[in-house]
Amino acid sequence: MTPADQALFEAAERVRARAHVPYSKFAVGAAILADDGSIYAGCNVENAAYPQGSCAEAGAIAAMALAGERRIAEILVAGDGDALCTPCGGCRQRIREFADPSSAIHIAGPEGVRRTFTLAELLPESFGPDHLPV
Ligand code: THU
Repeated sequence: MTPADQALFEAAERVRARAHVPYSKFAVGAAILADDGSIYAGCNVENAAYPQGSCAEAGAIAAMALAGERRIAEILVAGDGDALCTPCGGCRQRIREFADPSSAIHIAGPEGVRRTFTLAELLPESFGPDHLPV
């Protein structure tokens, strides 16, 4: 792991401990490396009205946006369990708004990064801001 990836992993694990997951008990942490080298993290926050819960990636993206950053260079998602904690479909599209097809999406378990994908691998032929004539 590069020093930047190690910092992302540590940031994601730190906030994963703050996840509000009384229903699924599945805590997720996400950390974004922005283009300027700054890091923004988020955790999942569930709700008794289930669809109102939000994913860790959404929290990290909100933290990045409120800091004034708009470009995701890399993102790391950390979750427990044997299966890879890959972003849900909705979060792949959320990431797409701020990342390039070649941007790295690292998937980590508690022990470290398990696999790295590009955004294009997880969301091929995607629709994005460049499709709109604005
Ligand atoms: N979850 C995330 O926060 N990010 C992911 O990449 C996958 C799933 C959350 C949503 C819900 O709170 C819990 O994990 C179980 O689906």
